[in-house]
Amino acid sequence: MNTVLVTGASGGIGEQLARVFAKNKCNLILVARSQAKLQSLASELKSQYGTSCTVISSDLSDPAAPAALFEQVQAAGLHVDILVNNAGLLYEGPLHANPLESHLQLLQVNVNACAALAYLFLKPMLEKRSGKILNVASTSAFQPVPMLSTYGASKAFLLSFSEALSIETQGTGVTVTALCPGFTNTDMIAKDNGGKSMNLPFVPNMEASEVAQEGYDACMAGKFMHINGRMNQLVVEVGRFQPRPLRRFLSGLIAKRGF
Ligand SMILES: NC(=O)c1ccc[n+]([C@@H]2O[C@H](COP(=O)([O-])OP(=O)(O)OC[C@H]3O[C@@H](n4cnc5c(N)ncnc54)[C@H](OP(=O)(O)O)[C@@H]3O)[C@@H](O)[C@H]2O)c1
Repeated sequence: MNTVLVTGASGGIGEQLARVFAKNKCNLILVARSQAKLQSLASELKSQYGTSCTVISSDLSDPAAPAALFEQVQAAGLHVDILVNNAGLLYEGPLHANPLESHLQLLQVNVNACAALAYLFLKPMLEKRSGKILNVASTSAFQPVPMLSTYGASKAFLLSFSEALSIETQGTGVTVTALCPGFTNTDMIAKDNGGKSMNLPFVPNMEASEVAQEGYDACMAGKFMHINGRMNQLVVEVGRFQPRPLRRFLSGLIAKRGF
C-alpha cells in the first residue's frame, strides 16, 4: 500500500487529491497549517476507506519547515512513496499592492518548500528504485501573468523544475509530474463580490475534484505534465505558437480586464 504525503491537504485541490488517493487505497500523510481541518479529513477518510492517516501541522513559509517535516516522517517510521507538492498561495495586484513580506512568503511556499521537499524525499525513493512526485503548478506557468507576477513566476519555476527532474529520474523507477490546472473553484481564487471567483474570458473554471482526479491519473501514469481540461489545453497550445510580443500584449489585455 502506497503512502502519499499531500501538502496543502486542508482544503481545495489538496483536499480533493487526498480523497482520490484514499479512495485508491493509499495511506496518507496530511500536511497544512490548519490542524483541525486535517484531523477532520483524516477521521472521515479513515472511516470511509479504512485509510491510515497521519496529520502533521506545518507552516511551509518557515524555511526550516521542510527539513522538520522530513524528520517527523522519518521519526514516525514512514516511507513516502508519493510526494504531492500542492500547498500554494496567491496575491493579486501590481507588485507594490502587497507588502514585500507577502511576496517572499509566497516564494517560500510555492518555490523553496517544493524544491526542498522534492530534494529530501527523492533520495529514499531513488534508493528504493520506486516513487512518484506530483508538483501542482498552473497554466500560469506558460506565460507572464501581470497582476499575479510572483505567483506566475513561481509556477514557471515549478513547471521547469518538474520537467528537469522528470528527465533526471528516467530509468530510476521514480517519476515526476507537473500538474497544470487553470482557474479552479477553491478559496484561493474566491472573491468577496457576490460569490464570484477569478476567471478567464471564455474558459469555464473547473472543480477541484475534477482537477484532482486528472492529477491522480497523470501521476500514476508517470506523465511528465498534465494540463487540466480541454479548454486550458487549447489556451496553452495556442499560446505556444504566439510570438513573444503578441503573448505579452494578450497577457496585458487579460490582466487589464481583471481576473
Ligand atoms: N485554484 C486555482 O485556480 C488554481 C489554479 C492553478 C493552480 N493552483 C494551485 O493549486 C494548489 C492548491 O491551491 P487551491 O486552489 O486548492 O488553494 P486553497 O484552497 O487556498 O488551498 C491552499 C492549501 O495550501 C495550504 N497552505 C497555504 N499556505 C501554507 C503554508 N504557509 N504552509 C502550509 N500549507 C499552506 C493551505 O492550508 P492551510 O491554510 O491550512 O495552511 C491549503 O490547504 C496551489 O499550489 C495553487 O497554486 C490553483
